[in-house]
Amino acid sequence: MKLTLSVIKADIGGFVGHSSVHKDVLAKVREVAEEGKDKGIIRDVSVLVCGDDIALVMTHTKGVDSSEVHELAWNAFKEGTEVAKKLKMYGAGQDLLAEAFSGNVKGMGPGIAEMEFVERKSEPVIVFFADKTSPSAWNLPLYEMFADPMNTAGLVIDPSMHEGFIFDVMDAYTGMGIQLKTPEELYDLLVFIGATSRYVVRAVYRKSDGEIAAAASTQKLSFMAGRYVGKDDPVLIVRAQSGFPAVGEVLEPFARPWLVEGWMRGSHTGPLMPVAFKNAKPTRFDGPPRVIAAGYQIADGYLIGPSDLFDDPAFDHAREECNKMANILRRQGIFEPHRLPPEEMEYTTLPKVLEKLKDRFKLVETERPKFSSEGEIAE
Ligand code: F6R
Ligand code: MG
Ligand code: MG
Repeated sequence: MKLTLSVIKADIGGFVGHSSVHKDVLAKVREVAEEGKDKGIIRDVSVLVCGDDIALVMTHTKGVDSSEVHELAWNAFKEGTEVAKKLKMYGAGQDLLAEAFSGNVKGMGPGIAEMEFVERKSEPVIVFFADKTSPSAWNLPLYEMFADPMNTAGLVIDPSMHEGFIFDVMDAYTGMGIQLKTPEELYDLLVFIGATSRYVVRAVYRKSDGEIAAAASTQKLSFMAGRYVGKDDPVLIVRAQSGFPAVGEVLEPFARPWLVEGWMRGSHTGPLMPVAFKNAKPTRFDGPPRVIAAGYQIADGYLIGPSDLFDDPAFDHAREECNKMANILRRQGIFEPHRLPPEEMEYTTLPKVLEKLKDRFKLVETERPKFSSEGEIAE
């Protein structure tokens, strides 16, 4: 029997500002999701929070893109939004872009990562959930988990992984996809996924049997809404052990922090800080971006967990490094490269500022500015 693991997430209002989620909003979302479990729409559900985002981790047997399961998540977020509105939470309902559910949450605002598989004798999975960044934040760790033998010893040692993996990559600008095999097409893969402003890894498959290994949410809220309505904080599902990277190999990339897009106003570069659940509250300059890792053992479709995997002193050093990186970047203030280049900013009221000033530009070759004796710019 095939089991489906669906992770659907949304920001339906922040407490305070964009930093966290209010307990009453969370309670309502959980209540609606649990009702779905009682009605048999889903087998099990676990609710996660990262920053101002809520994720429903659900198991069921209805396959990916199930309208019933998507509708349940939609209703949970919709009802949660009512509570958020009553409490005047910040940006209440910001990720619910459509007025009514129309069969699939894709394109309606919530982020979604799903996969279908036959449950193994033992099925460890990890759900990564990040706030104040975008789906391409997973490009680097997915490369390390599934294609870098310096990170994942199993690629060398374990015969079931030795053939490598296939990366399903999407061009976020055109919606076109390409599948690239590792290790033989590794350099081709890196041409694309190193360009994090444009290409995102959607999924990873084991080459020897095509088994799904990882699935990410790749929604771009900016394009869905025709304007920026919130950085598309991503989720990622990774299966671990017995033919997939070990739990420790999956977590290892996060021990060496790197820089991602997001942070304040979705317009800055910052380190992705791996944190325990209780510290997934980005407050410094609305950040730095956070990531949590929720581990589950799946037993007959039930989610045993979550285990808070970054709640480990072995990640303290990564957190310290992130704080150092954050200080270095903050020194740059509004200057690039801390601030993203204009085409990356997306979130923005900046065009309005530019519009106001556009007529004041003059060709530099022909005119030098002239000032009156009062210091005013002369026409
Ligand atoms: C970034 C984020 C926050 C907001 C910032 C301004 O993803 O959510 O950094 O961009 O707090 O928010 P507004 O424009 O809503 O006042
Ligand atoms: Mg928000
Ligand atoms: Mg968020």
